Amino acid sequence: MKKGFVFDLDGVITDTAKFHYIAWKDLAANLGITIDETFNETLKGISRMDSLDKILAYGHRENDFTTAEKEALAKKKNDEYVKLLADLSEADLLPGVHDFLVQAKKRNIPCSIASASKNAPMILEKLGVLEFFGHIVDPETLKKGKPDPEIFVKAAESIGVAPNDAVGFEDAQAGIEGIKAAGMYAVGISATEVLAGADLQVASMTELDIEQLINQ
Ligand code: BG6
Ligand code: MG
Repeated sequence: MKKGFVFDLDGVITDTAKFHYIAWKDLAANLGITIDETFNETLKGISRMDSLDKILAYGHRENDFTTAEKEALAKKKNDEYVKLLADLSEADLLPGVHDFLVQAKKRNIPCSIASASKNAPMILEKLGVLEFFGHIVDPETLKKGKPDPEIFVKAAESIGVAPNDAVGFEDAQAGIEGIKAAGMYAVGISATEVLAGADLQVASMTELDIEQLINQ
């Protein structure tokens, strides 16, 4: 019997990957680096600074910037990303998410967020679903990012649920690995990528049966 749900944000609750991509692509282009959608896949679930490091290494520019310059570049990317989110609303929730959250609330199943994004509280507020989450893990408090299980363990414990009794929802391979390493049941959500190691994979949350999940 499962007692709590832990959600990734980007790609699970809403599709912000396209906005991250636009902002990173523009920043990279200004540095003479071209990134494409295949490369963008490798940035999913990865923190802002780790994403910048990956882009600089990809363009062979990893030794060209001081820490302060890299922080300025990451801020520039985030400023553009936040501008792109200006019109985000409830209409941007991915299919099935709102219904699933309502059903979880009816059954008194606590939910939390395990996202690498520092923008998570603002995004959830714009989407109108902030009230459904008992806790949002602050990525600043983490020692390691995904695929380390730390964020998922913290997210489960923050809502009073042992990781073994929790279900995690993820769209990225690094996230599925983190959920499994935490000892949780992993639901992969992707219509395009095969998420290795997921206990169950669906194309969207509309396919999920909450009763079946609880009884895992
Ligand atoms: C993750 C995204 O959820 O958050 C990554 O999948 C992103 O692409 C990371 O880099 C950090 O987000 P933010 O909003 O703090 O820059
Ligand atoms: Mg994601």
